Amino acid sequence: MSQPPRHFLDLWKLEGSDLRAILEDAKRRKAARLGWPKGRPDEDAPGEGRTLAMIFEKNSTRTRFSFDAAMRQLGGDVIISNAVDMQLGRGEPIEDTARVLSRMVDAVMLRSNFHQDAERLAMSSTVPVINGLSDKSHPCQIMADLLTIEEHRGPVAGKTLAYVGDGNNVCASFIHAAPKLGFRLNIACPAVYHPDLQDLARAAQEQGQVFASDDPREAVRGADVVITDTWVSMGDTDHDERLDALEPYQVDEQLMDLARNDAVFLHCLPAHRGEEVTDEVIDGPQSLIWDEAENRLHAQKSILAWCFGAI
Ligand code: CP
Ligand code: NVA
Repeated sequence: MSQPPRHFLDLWKLEGSDLRAILEDAKRRKAARLGWPKGRPDEDAPGEGRTLAMIFEKNSTRTRFSFDAAMRQLGGDVIISNAVDMQLGRGEPIEDTARVLSRMVDAVMLRSNFHQDAERLAMSSTVPVINGLSDKSHPCQIMADLLTIEEHRGPVAGKTLAYVGDGNNVCASFIHAAPKLGFRLNIACPAVYHPDLQDLARAAQEQGQVFASDDPREAVRGADVVITDTWVSMGDTDHDERLDALEPYQVDEQLMDLARNDAVFLHCLPAHRGEEVTDEVIDGPQSLIWDEAENRLHAQKSILAWCFGAI
């Protein structure tokens, strides 16, 4: 009997050992091609002969370009479409889309408005499905973030990460990763934009060191990494209310001063300078945002390799 496809939908669904293997593979691949032209395939080309379909229900720069570049570097190919251009955009069931694409490509990446649609796509797909961001989570981003932290500060296990701002999809994937990889996660969000309670409960059940409050100073004190994200995510409609409620959660130099002296700053981008973070912090010496953005490519190559069974 054939093996079920290796979906990459949410970090909480995966084994910590698989996440670790993906991170180590990403480090190896990145080091092995240092200085190479960006379009040259890796020596082992584990994506050779494989095609990734990408479907976008929302805008994207990093996810779109990094997955495309990733497949080229793995020796494979991509087919990209916005959902509105597909019959999916006219109401064709996502299950039928899954069955058709499974006959034509080797994996599907979906950026979806509703997380449930990624789950439904995976349920009817016979090839791996990758969550390239939903309203509930952003697992590929967090793999790139963890890779960036480890490159600059060593193993994440035992480190303290502080997430400040909106308890959104990015925050959720950090919660999912904490028990798997053994880091402490301090979260500070206003009560009205708190993290998902089911995510917090699961992390507690898995003995994760995840602590949520509404106090940004408490969260950041002594942290190794300070992270924030936009206050208004794609699909959010309460723009003004969000800006008001989140104002006390801006990451500025005073807040960074409460973290360790060698603390680093991360933001998945796109950023809104002057809202969730000041220019001084995001463009300052502690910021790793450009390495973080580049690492979307390296982390996703290894996510794809894992989906293809090459790790
Ligand atoms: N960080 C991130 O996912 O960026 P894009 O929305 O540009 O893909
Ligand atoms: N939380 C943001 C992340 C964008 C990459 C959003 O969902 O819009």
